[in-house]
Amino acid sequence: MAHHTDALLSIKRINKEFSGVLVLNDINVDINGGEVFGILGENGAGKSTLLKIICGVYTPTSGTITLKGTPVSITSPMKAKRLGISMIPQEFNLIPTLTVFENIFLGSEIKNGALLNKKAMREKTSSLLAELKTELSPDALIVNLSVAEKQMVEIAKALVHESDILIMDEPTTVLTSVEIAVLFDLIARLKEKNVTILFISHKLNEVKNICDRILVLRDGDQISVNDIDEVDEQDMARKMVGRELSQVFPDKSVPEDEEVLRVENLSDLKLLKNISFSLNKGELLGFSGLIGAGRTELAECIMGLRPRSSGDIFVKGEQAQIDSPLDALDYKLAYLSEDRKGKGLLMSFGIPENISLISLAKYTNLFINKKKVQQSTDGYIEKFDIKAASLKAELDYFSGGNQQKVYLSKWMDTDPSILVLDEPTRGIDVNAKREIYHFINSLVTQGVSCILISSELEELIGLCTRILVMREGRITAEMTGEHINEEEIMFSAAGVKDMNQTTKEETSEIL
Ligand SMILES: Nc1ncnc2c1ncn2[C@@H]1O[C@H](COP(=O)(O)OP(=O)(O)OP(=O)(O)O)[C@@H](O)[C@H]1O
Ligand SMILES: [Mg+2]
Repeated sequence: MAHHTDALLSIKRINKEFSGVLVLNDINVDINGGEVFGILGENGAGKSTLLKIICGVYTPTSGTITLKGTPVSITSPMKAKRLGISMIPQEFNLIPTLTVFENIFLGSEIKNGALLNKKAMREKTSSLLAELKTELSPDALIVNLSVAEKQMVEIAKALVHESDILIMDEPTTVLTSVEIAVLFDLIARLKEKNVTILFISHKLNEVKNICDRILVLRDGDQISVNDIDEVDEQDMARKMVGRELSQVFPDKSVPEDEEVLRVENLSDLKLLKNISFSLNKGELLGFSGLIGAGRTELAECIMGLRPRSSGDIFVKGEQAQIDSPLDALDYKLAYLSEDRKGKGLLMSFGIPENISLISLAKYTNLFINKKKVQQSTDGYIEKFDIKAASLKAELDYFSGGNQQKVYLSKWMDTDPSILVLDEPTRGIDVNAKREIYHFINSLVTQGVSCILISSELEELIGLCTRILVMREGRITAEMTGEHINEEEIMFSAAGVKDMNQTTKEETSEIL
């Protein structure tokens, strides 16, 4: 007699190999209807691979999947959708030249006979976007959207199909607290309708908040399945890494007196208004603010990626002419953009090509010194613990977090004296974050100056000696040393005028 189980989805003895390398080893879990099931593990542990098997992107090398008691073979994402399984992928799958509604209905267009029913599709899109509380227009082109907006479109796209199982692979990585709150609210409502959510995140506090149970993977092995009440964040980290984590944030180093960068009265054509600040040698300066506050725009203006309408930039006391990223590089300014896939990496090339692309001069005499490039590459692989089934493969085959590590290496390799990092630890696991924090700190100790733009307050507070807060294109607060204070950062970012009238909880909700 067949073994009977009440589970909605039953995963038995799943293995997955990529060209002979085992990346999932004997995974066995039963997932129930209406639960939020978290999947945890370091970068490259196999989380996305497992979920891609469930939604038909990959087929397992061996093992079985049972849905509502019936064995199924999920051979394609289309098949998965028919079985009631949808996925919000880790990397965006949107077509930049199409509109929001065209992307949402791609492959499942609503038709009137042979004709597309654009009106119905626009209306459905509007109602989905309203449910997600975003002000996006169904007719906006994807190419013009920010990463957070693209994420919202991916979420809407998965919601079009009313599924029993909704897979979310790091949906919150590019969102700020406001959008995350909306998403969690939505998850709670879906749960009430008995929808099952499979959820991956490196933010352990949110896992603790919204998951009912968690599975921990390490190097493709199943380490544990726990009810969320049985584990705290520290337990989760320990299970992921396999040992106790030591001090996450390094001791802060003291900046020197010498000024290396000064921005005076910088404005752009749209958002930024009279921004002035300076940066010293060996300083780690943080920028906080909500989405749309203008932090990325400011970085892009300084780097010559975005036109300025006014303002001057001084590098080491000399007025700098920076009208392109190459100009910026001449002044030894480097900018790690928040959009690694859109603006940063060549996905169909390997690590060495990506690392040496910008710093090519360093490796070229008459010919490219491939040995030297490989030595650098090996150095970064070790330093940031870059992992992949094959390290020689193109980046497309790397896990999301490992792509981010390559991206970071690429900019570190330009030997910058001023480094602007825009959300550098996005999608990076707890352990690798620690490595990156210590590395940034070692750069600063050696006299490199850094600007850190981050949506994670904990990260800003743990690392920076000074923090500037931006709101609506202006700098609204500055805090130094022991005056750096979480509550005040939140108040300045949200623009709450009278602190007495708003409680901290209310502000946390806005943020
Ligand atoms: N299409 C592929 N071809 C070859 N190897 C792959 C492919 N997809 C994933 N891998 C490898 O499988 C392993 C697991 O990757 P996966 O994307 O599942 O990791 P992850 O746990 O999601 O990590 P992250 O937190 O960084 O997203 C990695 O070693 C990766 O290089
Ligand atoms: Mg992944």
